[in-house]
Amino acid sequence: MAHHADEAARPRRFSAGSALTGAIRVPGDKSISHRALMLSALCVGESRISGLLEGEDVLATAAAMRAMGATIARGDDGVWTVHGVGVGGLMQPEQALDMGNSGTSTRLLMGLVASHPITAMFTGDASLSRRPMARVTDPLSEMGAEFGASPGGTLPLMVRGLQPAVPITYRLPVVSAQVKSAILLAALNTPGTTTVIEPVATRDHSEKMLAGFGAPLTVEVDAEGVRHISVTGPCDLKAQDIVVPGDPSSAAFFIVAALIVPGSDLIIENVGMNVTRTGIITVLEAMGGQIERLNERTVGGEPVADLRVRASALKGITVDPVIVPSMVDEFPVFFIAAAMAEGTTVTSGLDELRVKESDRLATMARGLEAIGAAVEEREDGLVITGSGGRALRGGGPITTSLDHRIAMSFAVAGLVSDSGVEVDDTRPIATSFPDFLTLLESAQAGA
Ligand code: S3P
Repeated sequence: MAHHADEAARPRRFSAGSALTGAIRVPGDKSISHRALMLSALCVGESRISGLLEGEDVLATAAAMRAMGATIARGDDGVWTVHGVGVGGLMQPEQALDMGNSGTSTRLLMGLVASHPITAMFTGDASLSRRPMARVTDPLSEMGAEFGASPGGTLPLMVRGLQPAVPITYRLPVVSAQVKSAILLAALNTPGTTTVIEPVATRDHSEKMLAGFGAPLTVEVDAEGVRHISVTGPCDLKAQDIVVPGDPSSAAFFIVAALIVPGSDLIIENVGMNVTRTGIITVLEAMGGQIERLNERTVGGEPVADLRVRASALKGITVDPVIVPSMVDEFPVFFIAAAMAEGTTVTSGLDELRVKESDRLATMARGLEAIGAAVEEREDGLVITGSGGRALRGGGPITTSLDHRIAMSFAVAGLVSDSGVEVDDTRPIATSFPDFLTLLESAQAGA
């Protein structure tokens, strides 16, 4: 895998330009792409995946599944074919698994390794090597896997799987789809029934896709509204043809850009509308954003729509923390929208943002200050008083801290700035959205 650290940083200045018009199509959903590769690699037979996100994070998952025995190839038509090894068939990787910047690859793959009789070393870049792993190693240890982590429980980290692993019932102490998914993936090759109790619902792509591949999975909602998700193993998965819908988290950068750049009227095609992901749209609409859903349909078992977004006068809002899980990755760009709104926006319940690719509360607060926005950083959120639609001063260079979403958020801020916004490094954008700069240029050209 290409490593950012080997090359020079790629700074870039983003400046105000034309309105965003025409139609763009965002790339495949990152969460769904990881899961499609992992589950296909656990089938015997051939699966085909179209619309796969070809970003560095997903390519890290593909490389790891290859290293553990799957055959994965991209056709000239952009369709990926996967010949899997079967549940229980993962092979001992010969080298360390390089996860690059990808927390999702790391945590989900640890789940897979945990219930196979193999040992794997996980490594990653400077950002990933700071992120907490105890949230997955704790439950997977209960299932019988052994871990040798660096001090502080971070990468580099060695996982020794156990076969047969031990089924557990685990109540999630953190609100995390990655932790939920790691346990459900470990359960596939674990005899008996493993249950994850999820007090606060998070993205449900793992559950949907596991059921689609034929895993014996049940979801029960108890009297308190808490979800109990069970998988009984060991089980076989059946090879599938999968279509990955567009990523709402990538679309979010263009939704916010079109709302705040005067005169914009942009169509964003093929956006996943799973309700566990669309909190950003709900909140922006509540602020006065004009976002229309067109052509609603189902793609690959997920709801999808084309969005028409028009420049809108936004009003500050107090964001109910209940909605946080359904927009957890969208706060960086949401803060840019708040900086352009009329009045004050208050967010809370965002502790998890401090352990993403960067400490997103700190990086966003510092960056917003640097470009002249009024921001107060609290322990669990930001309070932002917006400009009421006037351009931000601009400035920089913004420190992106190896965080793709920080880079793209300040690129969007540059479009509504007097002097432009300089981002210190645009390379991390390739982890989730390699075509971002090209799509931005085409929307500015009205493509
Ligand atoms: C993801 C879950 C979320 C999210 C990440 C992708 C997933 O992480 O931030 O970008 O695909 O399961 P957490 O589980 O840490 O909330």
